[in-house]
Amino acid sequence: MLIAQITDLHIGTGDDIGAEDNYHRLLAVFARLKALKRQPDYIVATGDLTETGSVSAYKLLKKMLDRAEIEIFPCMGNHDLSANFKKVFGRMAFHDGFCQYTRDLGPVQLVVTDTHDETIHGGDFCEVRARWLDETLSDIGDKPVLLALHHPPFVTGIDWMGARESDEPWVQMLDSVVRRHRNVKRIISGHIHRPIVRQFAGTDCFVSSATAAEVHLELAPLSSSEADGRPLIVDEPAGFALHLWDGQQFVSHHGVAGDFDVILEYHERFRDVMRDVFHVPE
Ligand SMILES: [Fe+2]
Ligand SMILES: [Fe+2]
Repeated sequence: MLIAQITDLHIGTGDDIGAEDNYHRLLAVFARLKALKRQPDYIVATGDLTETGSVSAYKLLKKMLDRAEIEIFPCMGNHDLSANFKKVFGRMAFHDGFCQYTRDLGPVQLVVTDTHDETIHGGDFCEVRARWLDETLSDIGDKPVLLALHHPPFVTGIDWMGARESDEPWVQMLDSVVRRHRNVKRIISGHIHRPIVRQFAGTDCFVSSATAAEVHLELAPLSSSEADGRPLIVDEPAGFALHLWDGQQFVSHHGVAGDFDVILEYHERFRDVMRDVFHVPE
């Protein structure tokens, strides 16, 4: 089972929807995924699907996702507007007013939960969502769970983008639920626009880089009293992730889209080396 993750698509950054960089960056990721010899079985899109939550952006996004020919499971991010998302994608993914749902993917169960509050940039998680997640994870039993959400529930070191404190109430609420369920094998999220890994609530959380522009990697604290001219957003290649379920656990890979020079190709003369040195079976 191979699950691709795309995140922070931010479609519709300009008036000319469909012409902006984020549209082309997402197309580049789709092209990279399409070129894989092993195709993903599913794609999970962990939020910030659009820049402003406009209906026109969701319509364009739906057309793009339909063309991917792989079933895609969406999450809500802080740039999304649930009401407009529902107008285009339908209500099927909503429960208690939040974009939270679960799907049987065969060997693993996908659970999508909603950490967004349309009034704030950071994450949110309330008792209503906690109850749904707790009951859902209980009902799933021993089956391995991939839990998808938008905001990473921890301090990343890029303090202007993520949680400020590890004891923020929404983080503690999510921690208390996840910690009760040993079936959560991996959490996947986005929002920071960088690839990051950290433990959380007794499991692992993988934060994927964005298909849209990336946040500059700089862990020195940022001050609101002094603008130091540092880069904030940079034109690094569009990113994505591949989560391989090996029957026991998830192995998560960070990938980027783009045309890169090939240094070495697998040709006939390397077959013996593959067999004798790398022990690749015939
Ligand atoms: Fe984002
Ligand atoms: Fe976000």
